[in-house]
Amino acid sequence: MNTPKPIKKAVFPVAGLGTRFLPATKAIPKEMLAIVDRPLIQYAVDEAREAGIEQMIFVTGRGKTAIVEHFDIAYELEKTLSERGKDLSVLEPTRATPGDIITVRQQVPLGLGHAIWCARAIVGDEPFAIFLPDELMIGKVGGTGCMRQMVDAYNEVGGNLISVLEVPREDVSSYGVIDPGAEMGALTEVRGLVEKPPVADAPSNKIISGRYILQPEVMRVLEAQEKGAGGEIQLTDAMAKMIGSQPFHAVTFDGKRYDCGSKLGFVEATLALALEREDMGAEVRAMAERLLAI
Ligand code: UTP
Repeated sequence: MNTPKPIKKAVFPVAGLGTRFLPATKAIPKEMLAIVDRPLIQYAVDEAREAGIEQMIFVTGRGKTAIVEHFDIAYELEKTLSERGKDLSVLEPTRATPGDIITVRQQVPLGLGHAIWCARAIVGDEPFAIFLPDELMIGKVGGTGCMRQMVDAYNEVGGNLISVLEVPREDVSSYGVIDPGAEMGALTEVRGLVEKPPVADAPSNKIISGRYILQPEVMRVLEAQEKGAGGEIQLTDAMAKMIGSQPFHAVTFDGKRYDCGSKLGFVEATLALALEREDMGAEVRAMAERLLAI
């Protein structure tokens, strides 16, 4: 196989309404909710950078300007901090190289597939990554992040890749599920994809998690604007149509996924990441033990 084209662009669909987090998300984008002290979008952009991705394309909507502000230089803040002799390094990850953050607008939230299609002119004729920032993917300590694992696999097999993880069978009907073919270590050939199948019909318990590497042809499929489950234009349906004409694999993520689009997942992520931190883990553990003793 020829070396596949490198993945240099990533699309971050952030135009959803975040209704499960209302009223918190009335004026603040869901992607700006913080796990300890980093907003969700920052975790996703850091993961993209670790995977060698250079251009971040945010698909935004009304009320999402805070996301773009987050990656801008806050001149007054920096000036005040340095006058007070404060450490500015905490702001370092929020600095973007000029031109590497691009926004496009999804005027009406017609679904994830539609949000991706809104980025077609910037993606152009290149393979690209997709990150759903409310799915927080944390690699093992000392290991690599989810997208780095996917890019490494992509460099071996090319084509399209999705990240998957196994869930208890009774939970599959809340997710997109793969119909698995041959397995080669962490890679599984994908023969089909089904969005939210009834448990009895689910072809596996491997669910699609929020990271993708797709070939630009997916934009042509999305162009048809066909509606699927929930009356939304679904990315899963567009990807399913590409299986057979292009290589399609799933990568089982070696790490932990937190569904921060749900309240329980968000609380779990907050606790787990706080417990792991050197600067506060011991205190958080003691705090949790005190609370549980009551
Ligand atoms: P979700 O299904 O989590 O929807 O979208 P949501 O609106 O963010 O949250 P709830 O369900 O109302 O609480 C998955 C991802 O797709 C984006 C969302 O921003 C999120 O990153 N999305 C979804 C769009 O950008 N546009 C859409 O039309 C739909």
